[in-house]
Amino acid sequence: MYDFVLTLHNYLRWALLLVGLAALVLAWSGAASRGRWTPPQVNLGRLFAGLFDLQVLVGILLYAVLSPLTTGAFKNMGAAMKNPDLRFFVAEHLVGMLIAAALVHVGASRAKRKDSPLQAAIFYTLAFVVVVVSIPWERPLF
Ligand code: HEM
Repeated sequence: MYDFVLTLHNYLRWALLLVGLAALVLAWSGAASRGRWTPPQVNLGRLFAGLFDLQVLVGILLYAVLSPLTTGAFKNMGAAMKNPDLRFFVAEHLVGMLIAAALVHVGASRAKRKDSPLQAAIFYTLAFVVVVVSIPWERPLF
């Protein structure tokens, strides 16, 4: 179960990065042309937010239940916070990804208003940067 969920979390990362990149490129192109939102622009933003929510749920399942790393760390949080590898998963990865999730949702809600591609583009870009810096790149890529 743990291996399956961890692998799912790993692969979902790539889906999220691809869809997020496409959503922000389309949002910036809309902002540059000062045009109206097109359905693909709005739908990609929604897909980005939906995939993000799924990844957060999978991550929370790992964090709270399945991962021996985090559940082990909870037994001695003082020691875990002094260990950079454990602190990354207990605190930095979680907080970074929750901030990114909020930014994606703000961007997607701007897209729904149809008149603010620039704001959506800015929020998607901020979210994308926070995601990229919060991913544990030293772990397996696939
Ligand atoms: C609040 C949201 C999230 C939580 C609570 C969370 C939690 C975790 C935990 C506990 C682990 C370590 C599991 C272990 O090794 O036992 C992990 C690994 C990982 N997380 Fe997250 N995560 C979240 C969001 C994300 C997002 C949004 C992404 C990418 C877009 C992501 C990408 C990864 C990757 C690539 C790994 C390493 C997977 C592997 O080693 O195969 N996480 N996450």
